[in-house]
Amino acid sequence: MPKVTIFGAGNVGATCAHVLAQRDIADVCLIDIVEGMPQGKALDIRQAGPLQDFGVEVTGSNDYAACKDSDVVVVTAGLARKPGMDRMELLGKNTNIVAGIAKAIRENAPGAVIVMVTNPLDVMTYVAWKVSGFPRERVVGMAGVLDSARFRAFIAMELGVSVVDVSAMVLGGHGDTMVPLPRFSTVNGVSIKELMSPEAIQRLSDRTRKGGAEIVNLLKTGSAFYAPGTSSAQMAEAIVKDRNHVLPASVWLQGEYGLRDVFCGVPVVLGKGGMKRIVDLRLDDAEKAMLVKSADDVRKGQTEVAGFLS
Ligand code: NAI
Ligand code: 2OP
Repeated sequence: MPKVTIFGAGNVGATCAHVLAQRDIADVCLIDIVEGMPQGKALDIRQAGPLQDFGVEVTGSNDYAACKDSDVVVVTAGLARKPGMDRMELLGKNTNIVAGIAKAIRENAPGAVIVMVTNPLDVMTYVAWKVSGFPRERVVGMAGVLDSARFRAFIAMELGVSVVDVSAMVLGGHGDTMVPLPRFSTVNGVSIKELMSPEAIQRLSDRTRKGGAEIVNLLKTGSAFYAPGTSSAQMAEAIVKDRNHVLPASVWLQGEYGLRDVFCGVPVVLGKGGMKRIVDLRLDDAEKAMLVKSADDVRKGQTEVAGFLS
């Protein structure tokens, strides 16, 4: 049985673990610094097995070395911003956390594919890539899967159609400048441009860009986790099962889409070994300009964390 380790057994990590277990994808190891918590959640998920017909092993640990020999490592560990903590302080703290985890992955699971989830997503993926020293194929960031799922859900809700018939694509960094692509979004093959007014498309695109904040405002004490946990599990499954799914993921660009030396969300083929190739969409000038702007925002973050890494 393949092994997926999840660093951070909080809301997103535990949801990801449950989804992977439910689908019998892999043995799952949850790692967190809070004593007893990953062990407790692992046992709880395992006890759902008889009810949901799954039998994979789910374990919990406070020891980073428990990620040994994992095929995939999902990283959701990090701190949320606390009152009085500025953005740079948070960036520094999460950089240290992710760097420590990347080092442990390099030492204990040198063949793993890393799926980054911790925010700020694209910048933390850069940190994991830098510190692990892994090739770019084996360090991918989860954001586009979630942002595209949100866009799909909004399109289905607007049109009153089944969400399974809706495909959508959101590229760019995981922030306010992400790039929903209505031209590549369809309902059973029919472009949404045929089915909705330009105003409705704009409204849904804006709602997608602010999709994370909308949930934070409703929850008040945390951020989204069901869709993020499931999105992370979908990426882990694509890798473990060698599905060759075409999914948007944050990857280190080396000239693709005219972008270089930046982590940014683009469509990739995801399977065994991680990112197999980048899918080159022919973007029009407006779409390209939005992607460049979004990548520029990530680049600023990469420059900021460089100070913490040196
Ligand atoms: P959470 O607070 O529920 O869980 C975070 C967990 O990380 C906690 O259990 C904490 O104890 C653990 N942790 C902290 N430092 C650690 C360390 N050094 N080693 C191991 N574990 C450590 O937060 P939640 O809701 O699960 O979110 C996790 C991260 O995912 C956040 O950074 C959040 O912003 C991000 N996120 C990213 C999304 C994306 O699309 N990329 C979507 C949703 C959340
Ligand atoms: C989200 O999009 C907070 O990044 C997180 O829900």
